[in-house]
Amino acid sequence: MAQTPDIKYSFGLWTVGWQAQDPFGLATRPALDPVESIHKLAEIGAWGFTFHDNDVFPFDADDADRRARIDAVKKAADETGLVIEMVTTNTFTHPVFKDGAFTSNDRAIRRFGLRKVLRNVDLTAELGAKTFVMWGGREGVEYDNSKDLHAAHARYAEGIDAVAAYIKHQGYDIKIALEPKPNEPRGDIFLPSIGHALALIDSLDNGDIVGLNPETGHEQMATLNYTHGLALALYRGKLFHIDLNGQHGPKFDQDLVFGHGDLLSAFFTVDLLENGFPNGGPRYEGARHFDYKPSRTEGPNGVWDSAKANIETYTILARKAAEYRNDPEVKEAQKYAGIFELGETTMAEGETFEDFLADRSTREDFDFDTAAEREYGLVRLHQLALAHLIG
Ligand code: GCO
Ligand code: MN
Ligand code: MN
Repeated sequence: MAQTPDIKYSFGLWTVGWQAQDPFGLATRPALDPVESIHKLAEIGAWGFTFHDNDVFPFDADDADRRARIDAVKKAADETGLVIEMVTTNTFTHPVFKDGAFTSNDRAIRRFGLRKVLRNVDLTAELGAKTFVMWGGREGVEYDNSKDLHAAHARYAEGIDAVAAYIKHQGYDIKIALEPKPNEPRGDIFLPSIGHALALIDSLDNGDIVGLNPETGHEQMATLNYTHGLALALYRGKLFHIDLNGQHGPKFDQDLVFGHGDLLSAFFTVDLLENGFPNGGPRYEGARHFDYKPSRTEGPNGVWDSAKANIETYTILARKAAEYRNDPEVKEAQKYAGIFELGETTMAEGETFEDFLADRSTREDFDFDTAAEREYGLVRLHQLALAHLIG
């Protein structure tokens, strides 16, 4: 299998560990010991791993059991050299969170949810992970009259801000990454897209350490363009982490192997992540993190075949994206399309409105009919990308 040691691949323990129970059927696979998964991930070429508190110890674990299981994971990380790059909290499985954790109508449950999350922030700091993901799977409703929707957003913002304030209060070197999702398990989840999450972050007192963990399939479930979402998050300095996987458009959350959904979109995602914007700009420096599910049809062999498929697909796409970007014909076609021209500001630096209004080429002398005849060659440029992808 093609492996590039310079790309940092990472997996959630819950991905390979999923036993494939769904609303219609029982688990099709035995439980995996997290320690075994960590060793297997190292074997297939992962650089790091991530987990929810309850991927490692049960919801109701006593202190001694919790400690023993955390220590086992730490030992496995040390033995394999895998980096624990992100930690996240399960505030969705236990029935107590059926109406949410930070947005539950029940205040005592909200306070319990916050305690669970803060305890897990302490664990994140102990393990040296730098990113703390918050996916509010149960933060939402089935019915629009289930909540005061203003208060729900206020409580969500309050909860996230409290976690961020606690991180600062403790002096931890951790950033929070919110993970948007439009629906599933709730009928409608709050913060359904990258844009919604960015808007809420803007309202926080401690929003400087709060960013995003966008997932490929979640944006695509909402018929949104994942690569565009990553671009906006980068533009706002908020792309703190990523969940890569595959999805075939608007349907249930498929969590397919990366590239097994919309392959063209995956190609442009990798092109952005590996090669950056054509005119330069902010880059994503974090792990290439996979949040997929081995399909329910797969047994223990299929689990690891599918895990490897994520790495292999990304690695192939990274090579092809580099070839695409370095192709002189592509560079020429990009230039013809005006892609580098888009990097120039519309008004010149220091140009005043007086200067601008006096520039006759902006209106009086502008020949819009001739300008309308400009060709951009965008289909040719896209075909060049496609030829690199399938060639
Ligand atoms: C999902 C989500 C989760 C989160 C995970 C991290 O749709 O189930 O993607 O897998 O990523 O809970 O917080
Ligand atoms: Mn998902
Ligand atoms: Mn995810």
